[in-house]
Amino acid sequence: MTAGPDGYTGRRVLGGAALAAILSRAAAAQPGTGLGAIARQHGFSYGCAVLGNLLQSNPTYAQAVAIEAGLLVPEYEAKFAALQPQEGRFDFAPLDVILNWAQARSIPVRGHALIWHEALPAWVPPALAEGPARARGIMQAHFDTVLARTRPRIRDWDVVNEAVANPPGSDNPSPSGPLRPTPWLAALGPDYIGMAFRLARERDPTLRLVLNDYGVEEDTPAAEIKRGWLLALCRHLQDQNVPLDAVGIQAHLQMRNAFSAPKFTAFVRNLRAMGLAVLITELDVREPDRVANGYPARDAAVAAWVGNFLGAAIEGGVRTVLTWGLIDRYSWLVTTPGVARRDGLFHRGLPLDWNAQRKPMWRAMARVMGGQV
Ligand code: G3I
Repeated sequence: MTAGPDGYTGRRVLGGAALAAILSRAAAAQPGTGLGAIARQHGFSYGCAVLGNLLQSNPTYAQAVAIEAGLLVPEYEAKFAALQPQEGRFDFAPLDVILNWAQARSIPVRGHALIWHEALPAWVPPALAEGPARARGIMQAHFDTVLARTRPRIRDWDVVNEAVANPPGSDNPSPSGPLRPTPWLAALGPDYIGMAFRLARERDPTLRLVLNDYGVEEDTPAAEIKRGWLLALCRHLQDQNVPLDAVGIQAHLQMRNAFSAPKFTAFVRNLRAMGLAVLITELDVREPDRVANGYPARDAAVAAWVGNFLGAAIEGGVRTVLTWGLIDRYSWLVTTPGVARRDGLFHRGLPLDWNAQRKPMWRAMARVMGGQV
């Protein structure tokens, strides 16, 4: 399998079974060789979401990220609420913790997310409701400051996050579609998406501009509809000459849902055929409601699920993969009531276990990104 260039190294590196065999033996022999290094050696990028306060205060967390991640994304610190808590008052301190930590280790950082309906500070929704001129001013002022301030350090942004509606039958179905009803849509109409991408491109022509979403991964009627809506949105944006460079697929996988590798590969190929890069931006796994007894069986099931998914993604042309966190203990799947398990167990949906030890999921990802799909 020939790995193509990703958005970060840009180098075309032959995957090759022989090379993969050597490297995977080397990876096994050198516990310090992380997923990021293995991925980079095969023309991929691997990274993870991080929280700055944990990088600062938790040496085990920081060491694991330093070993495993070839790319970072702030889990919270680059969101609207974190960066502009009051209108006109910006706070880059939390984000700088991550940017400085990453720069000291020459690890690139991607931005998440300029426009989203969540993580909005309280002042934004009522201000957006004042009308389109006010709303455009808010978007423009945020982009002016954030993109200028982060330009030297962030070269890739989720410009709009979760713009597509959730179809009937999905977990949280939207009241209407195909666009998710958000304060941005209400204030500016459907063109808010194109407006955001144009504003970002005008401010920094060298940025990679990404449309990020979820719920398009699995073999369900709802996901099939949402894939169609997302493809149609991308085609519409391109017809309008909107500067869209890539699609981010979040990949918060749920093992209770069916998955079809051929269908997902075809979806990625459809996006690639439009000239778009495709990233896996927030990979993690929610186990089924009933799980096997004991970690070995559970972790083996998660690893098989991730290996199948990642193989399908890479087959379709994905070259950049991020997990939404690295260590199970700190996952939103554990800390967020709506998705945490209700049986007293904790999801094991990330590459490292509760104590930052590599799990079968880590090995499945290393194998698939090491060229042995
Ligand atoms: O509220 C405090 C804030 O006052 C403080 O300044 C900040 C400092 O870190 O922390 C804030 O706490 C929480 C924050 O996570 C940091 O841990 C917020 O209350 C909480 O709402 C926030 O939740 C995050 C959520 O997005 C909303 O932003 C989750 O950690 C994060 O995992 C989740 O990630 C989303 C992606 O952005 C988009 N895709 C889905 C994914 C999971 O929901």
